[in-house]
Amino acid sequence: MPDNISGRTRICGIIGDPVEHTMSPSMQNEAFRITGLDYVYVPFHVVKEKLAEAVRGLRSAGCAGFNVTIPHKVTVMNLLDEIDEAAACIGAVNTVVINGGRMKGYNTDGEGFLRSLGAEGVGISGRKIVVMGAGGAARAICHVLARQEAVLTILNRSAGNAAELADEINRKTGKPVASGGMENADVISGAEVLINTTSVGMGFRKAYSPLESRFLHTGLTVCDIVYNPPETELLRQAKAAGCRTVDGLGMLVWQGALSFELWTGKPAPVEAMKEAMRRRLETL
Ligand code: ATR
Repeated sequence: MPDNISGRTRICGIIGDPVEHTMSPSMQNEAFRITGLDYVYVPFHVVKEKLAEAVRGLRSAGCAGFNVTIPHKVTVMNLLDEIDEAAACIGAVNTVVINGGRMKGYNTDGEGFLRSLGAEGVGISGRKIVVMGAGGAARAICHVLARQEAVLTILNRSAGNAAELADEINRKTGKPVASGGMENADVISGAEVLINTTSVGMGFRKAYSPLESRFLHTGLTVCDIVYNPPETELLRQAKAAGCRTVDGLGMLVWQGALSFELWTGKPAPVEAMKEAMRRRLETL
């Protein structure tokens, strides 16, 4: 955040409902401060009924861009002038760039996840990967992984939702994707990477894991996109089973770093953003 907000300061933000618990201002404002860029990032509480009005208002007010979170990631697409190809494929937008009054939507969730794996040295291409969950986060991640030639299996509490997502990814990317219910968890024995995209492990389900630990093995890298707590029950089980682990902080930071780069055109100070998030998480 600039020390002195002036008439030249560019405004970025996040729209969502609820938005009061967002951690993005901590990392984006730290990124602006450290790079000396004259930008500020603020949360906007926008209810569904006011979405169109709010988006038009942000554009009219000369905003540089904004993040989009629940429940607007899909509906905001109708209000934009252009949608990036990856976001169109995923069917959701989490970042909007406003340039000369034109609004373009992007999705940095899937790519952010990919970068976080890359930063940890976890390879994707040709790897056998099991994704648990079939919601919005799984959709963004699976699209990107399929395009990276991962050999994907989607497992979910409701097998029907897993099958639907697998069909969609197959249709849109041309890659084969297997699916099943959690009763098919023995496929994990042949997998190299396991990714949890469900909400099990956070909030009131903090004490729980989406998987019985008997399915874990030493050849497996286990990733959890849940970032609070930093060590989820699944990651705790995975460490105990001798697996390599990747926590959710990286995805959170990288999706934000990619948004920062889209708004400013400058490289994001990723390590400083990560440190800001670590500090923020400690206050929760
Ligand atoms: P997001 O957009 O964050 O991915 P979502 O769309 O609500 O969130 O998706 C939540 C995912 O977590 C779904 O795959 C859901 O499984 P169902 O399709 O069976 O609903 C999964 N999930 C949520 N609560 C769960 C629980 N208690 N046990 C197992 N899976 C759960």
